[in-house]
This record gives sequence, structure tokens and C-alpha cells, in this order.
Amino acid sequence: MARKKIALIGAGNIGGTLAHLCALKGLGDVVLYDVIDGLPQGKALDLLEAGPIEGYDVNIIGTMSYADIQGADVCIVTAGLARKPGMSRDDLLGINCKIMRQVSENIAQYAPNAFVIVITNPLDAMVTLTKRVTGFAKNKVVGQAGVLDSSRYRTFIAQELKVSVRNVTAMVLGGHGDDMVPVRSYCQVAGMPIERLITAQRLEEIENRTRQAGGEIVALLKTGSAFYSPASAAIQMAEAYLYDKKQILPCAAYLEGEYGINGVYFGVPVQVGAGGVERVIELTLSEKEKQEMQVSVSHVQELVAAMDKVLAASA
Ligand code: APR
Repeated sequence: MARKKIALIGAGNIGGTLAHLCALKGLGDVVLYDVIDGLPQGKALDLLEAGPIEGYDVNIIGTMSYADIQGADVCIVTAGLARKPGMSRDDLLGINCKIMRQVSENIAQYAPNAFVIVITNPLDAMVTLTKRVTGFAKNKVVGQAGVLDSSRYRTFIAQELKVSVRNVTAMVLGGHGDDMVPVRSYCQVAGMPIERLITAQRLEEIENRTRQAGGEIVALLKTGSAFYSPASAAIQMAEAYLYDKKQILPCAAYLEGEYGINGVYFGVPVQVGAGGVERVIELTLSEKEKQEMQVSVSHVQELVAAMDKVLAASA
């Protein structure tokens, strides 16, 4: 059986980590694309030379030619600028819009059957643009945000209670901004509702830290943003697709009426399998959570409107 082909558009911090994880997990052959000459080629060769030690046989190439992504099964997009201290994800809009338009045109041309996972920020706008420009069906274009945001929430809960991260299940929904929605009513530790284990006030602090967790890392790194955890999150989504896991994961999905929201990408639980985003799961939310979702969706709508202005100005 032929190996799957995974195209990574952007060979920076996240792109390189994605390639490493693909190889270690034997997910498939990897094509690492970037516009900086030598960067994708150098990382690919370095990774290939780790193969005999780690025992992987997948092929890894670095390229500046989109023709090399021909026929990819999965494309994971990280092309674009990352945040520096003092920047919000939304500050990346202008520059990343132009990059993502070009990236999407090439994915449509060379990898028309791919499952596309977008990581580039501002995520909710960039995944919307990708769907529009590729013209792909909504089940084949998805944004990575919720798996990472939920993992951050789970990390902090596990630390707080000194339990295994594997015992903590949680969903962070909504847009990938500071008004994301940690859904407390669905957070459990070994099946026990979190509200029985941690006081409301402490939970509030943990949820605020979760909302700011990306910025916390930007402030520490100073030259860029988080990359290990976003890469792990996208790989979990790719595995759910490639292995037809039917796994329920919080992802940015295109909504058409679910949660009373229409025509935007928004973080909700979805089932990911061989059909891509196979269905949206509608949770019963508390009134507070519903209100928080409304605040978050209006921010996403503003962001998409701002993107439309940028695109109109550059047309
Ligand atoms: N086509 C392909 N790659 C591009 C293009 C383009 N037109 N323009 C820039 N790139 C590449 C850069 O050359 C760089 O190698 O995208 C890569 C981005 O890598 P990093 O700067 O290391 O950023 P990274 O941490 O990987 O984050 C990428 O993901 O989480 C988001 O906010 C983050 O938008 C950012 C993206």
C-alpha cells in the first residue's frame, strides 16, 4: 500500500515540528514547502538523517515548488508571520491574508483532494479565506485552534489537581482569540465534573490563563509564538482523518445554522474521520456559555469583515 502524502506549507517553527512528528509517527511521506531558499531543504535533510536512528522510512523532501505537493492527502498550513510580544493574533491579518490567498490557490491546483488543516493566524479568518479561495467543500477545510486551547486548559487543570493529563477531558470552543470559551460544564476529571473539584474562583483564574496562554508563550519566547503544542494539535487532527478515527475534537468548522451561527468558521466539537469534518456536535451549553459564544462569534464576524476590507483594497 502506498504511503500517504502530507504537505506542510510553511517550514518555520511549527512546520518543522510537524515534519518531525509526521516522521516519528510514520504518518506518511512529507513535503515541506517554504519561500525561504534552503530552509525547507535543510530541515528535510536533517530529519531524513535522523531516520536510521529513530527507525522511520518515510521520505521527507524540502521544496520551493508547489508542483511537489501534487496529490497530497493532507495539507497543513502554517505559512505566514507569527506574533511578537505586544501583538494580538488579529494584528497579523493584513500580511497573512496575502500569503494565504496565494497558498490556497496552489493547494487548489496541486492538491485538489486534500484535507486542509489551517494553523496560520488570525485562525478564524485565515481558514475562512482558505475555504473561499480553494472552493473546497466545508468538510475538507478545517482550522486548528480548539485542540490546542483545550490542551492548555487540560494542562492547567492537571497541574492544579496533580493528576494525569489523561484523566482530564475538556473543550475550549469559540474563536481563537482572547474571548475563546472554556466550556466548564463539559470539563471532567476521570468522569467527575470539574466544579466539584476546583472552586469557581480558582476555575475562573485557570480559564483566564487558558485564554491568555498563547500570549504567555509569546512573552517568554520574544521572537515568535508557540510551536510544539500547535503542531501536536494539528497532528492529532491529521491522524483522525488518515486513520478514519471518527474522533470528536474541538476544531474551527464552517457552520450553517449549528449553534444558531451561520456562514462563519467557529470553534465547535466536530467528528473527524475519513470524510474530513463528518459532523458538528451540538452541546447543550449553560446560559453563561451561550452568551460567551455570542461575544466570541461577533468578534470572529468583525475579523472576517476586516479581512474582506483588506482583500477588497488589494484586489
Ligand atoms: N508561502 C509559504 N511559506 C511562507 C510564505 C508563503 N507565501 N510566507 C512566509 N512563509 C513561511 C516563512 O518563511 C516561515 O518559514 O512561513 C513560515 C512561518 O514560520 P514561523 O515564522 O516560524 O512561524 P510559526 O511559529 O511556524 O507560525 C506560523 O502559525 O500559529 C500560527 O500565529 C502563527 O501565523 C503563524 C503561523
